[in-house]
Amino acid sequence: MKPPEFHDRMLSLGLARVSEAAALASASLIGRGNEREADQAAVNAMREQLNKLEIAGVVVIGEGERDEAPMLYIGEEVGTGEGPAVDIALDPLEGTTLTAKDMPNALTVIAMGPRGSMLHAPDVYMDKLAIGPGHAPGTVTMAMSPSERVTALAVAKGCSTGDITVCVLERPRHADMIAEIRTTGAAIRLITDGDVAGVIHCAEPSTGIDMYMGQGGAPEGVLAAAALKCMGGQMLGRLVFRNDDEKARADKAGIKNLDRVYTRDDMITGDVIFAATGVTDGSILPGVKREPGVLTSETILMRSKTGSVRRMTYRHPIGG
Ligand code: FBP
Repeated sequence: MKPPEFHDRMLSLGLARVSEAAALASASLIGRGNEREADQAAVNAMREQLNKLEIAGVVVIGEGERDEAPMLYIGEEVGTGEGPAVDIALDPLEGTTLTAKDMPNALTVIAMGPRGSMLHAPDVYMDKLAIGPGHAPGTVTMAMSPSERVTALAVAKGCSTGDITVCVLERPRHADMIAEIRTTGAAIRLITDGDVAGVIHCAEPSTGIDMYMGQGGAPEGVLAAAALKCMGGQMLGRLVFRNDDEKARADKAGIKNLDRVYTRDDMITGDVIFAATGVTDGSILPGVKREPGVLTSETILMRSKTGSVRRMTYRHPIGG
């Protein structure tokens, strides 16, 4: 019998519930200084909800390799096994430190697409470059230096380089890049963690961010590409290998060309659905609110097929 097709419309509300459940579970751990517990609560809740969905799902971007992640590991089969064959990319808590310290922009994130539609990125770094929608392909490239990228984007937008804001993860490895961007007069929004949100910012005009660049996790890169596939916007990524062990991870994931520059659509080749729920307050989503007897969360739910973006507020009564 032919396996059921991936009906993204029907599955999207289920995906929102999965993302919501993870955020609500980690809410009581916001600002409690315990990253591991916050992450574990989100993982448990996400897995429980995911296994209720009528899908034959496989985690392609998850909590890590099977031997290092007992749950939601790469290759884990999820869902009831009855529905369409799908790939899942997830990060039950994107910003564990942000959550533990009650800092902005912690999210729960999940994307789903037909089987074979997502890059199986190994857990290494990825050099990322992203801009929002409405620009010609090749407006900015990996081959350009950081200052050339700022200039090229300013030309494309018809503004001065001083009007551009670039989002960058604050890390010592980015010191030279930050210094070079500063020579253009562009503003830099430094974030301490959470580059899925960092990339998404480019496609959301209200954030004031025009471009994202720098190295962060490759799994987070694939999740960000899924979001931009729904919202519009360009993203490029190149895997970064620091040693032979990391190269072996790529080999295991079936990646042969280690220097390849992936476009957004190379990372996400089919239509996907994407859901994220705010854990702490951020520029894209408010965090979970805790009031006596009730938790309130907000989820953004998007489909690349239609470009639809839904925002859903969920009031969840707790206790008696
Ligand atoms: P966690 O949620 O796993 O803590 O990841 C947060 C994060 O900031 C990602 O958004 C980012 O891609 C990655 O860590 C950067 O890695 P590093 O902290 O090693 O620079």
